[in-house]
Amino acid sequence: MEISVTVNGRSYQHNVPPRLLLVHYLREYLNLTGAHVGCDTSQCGACVVHVNGQSVKSCTLLAVQANGSEVTTIEGLAKGDTYTPMQQGFWEKHGLQCGFCTPGMIMSASALLQRNANPSETEIRHALEGNLCRCTGYENIVRAVQYAAGQINGSGSNGHAMHEQAKPETPETPAELEHPQRDEGAPEHPETVEEWQSENAGVSDDAPAGEGRS
Ligand code: FES
Ligand code: FES
Repeated sequence: MEISVTVNGRSYQHNVPPRLLLVHYLREYLNLTGAHVGCDTSQCGACVVHVNGQSVKSCTLLAVQANGSEVTTIEGLAKGDTYTPMQQGFWEKHGLQCGFCTPGMIMSASALLQRNANPSETEIRHALEGNLCRCTGYENIVRAVQYAAGQINGSGSNGHAMHEQAKPETPETPAELEHPQRDEGAPEHPETVEEWQSENAGVSDDAPAGEGRS
């Protein structure tokens, strides 16, 4: 069947088999191999591209269904040597390990920021539910999306990320839980009656503060 599509701003016409999947059309006819095939169950999201501005798993669409559409793949995001904020975020926050899931992650996350420029962490995780990372680097992927949102909003960090950074540190070990570290410079306080008695032994009522200790 004859199809005509615009991919990354270029027009293409091809005669394709009616059962050809879009992902195979992109990879085999156009040599755009950024969209990966990571499963045969439409679960992994490694094949995500944009079709008319919507993120789509290109393994779930026939090439003929994209006839007349505008398709953007990972190869079409950067303008020359200039990465998008999302691509830069994955670089800055080390949002990838083997990189197999990365094109799909970036395409899904980019679509998220187009409809919600300041997503919460929960919204980011929800939006990426259809993208699996077999290296399990989800924390840094979320940080990368937050970085991109911050860049787009001009703050260098989105409000939700700043809120999270301001959260108090939580103890990580049982020892820290029992003896939480005090802030540096915070005054020491006696922790037992004996310590208190020893610190206050011999302090006279009219002695200047800090004097009169044995
Ligand atoms: S290859 Fe499309 S979802 Fe896995
Ligand atoms: S970075 Fe390896 S699968 Fe995600």
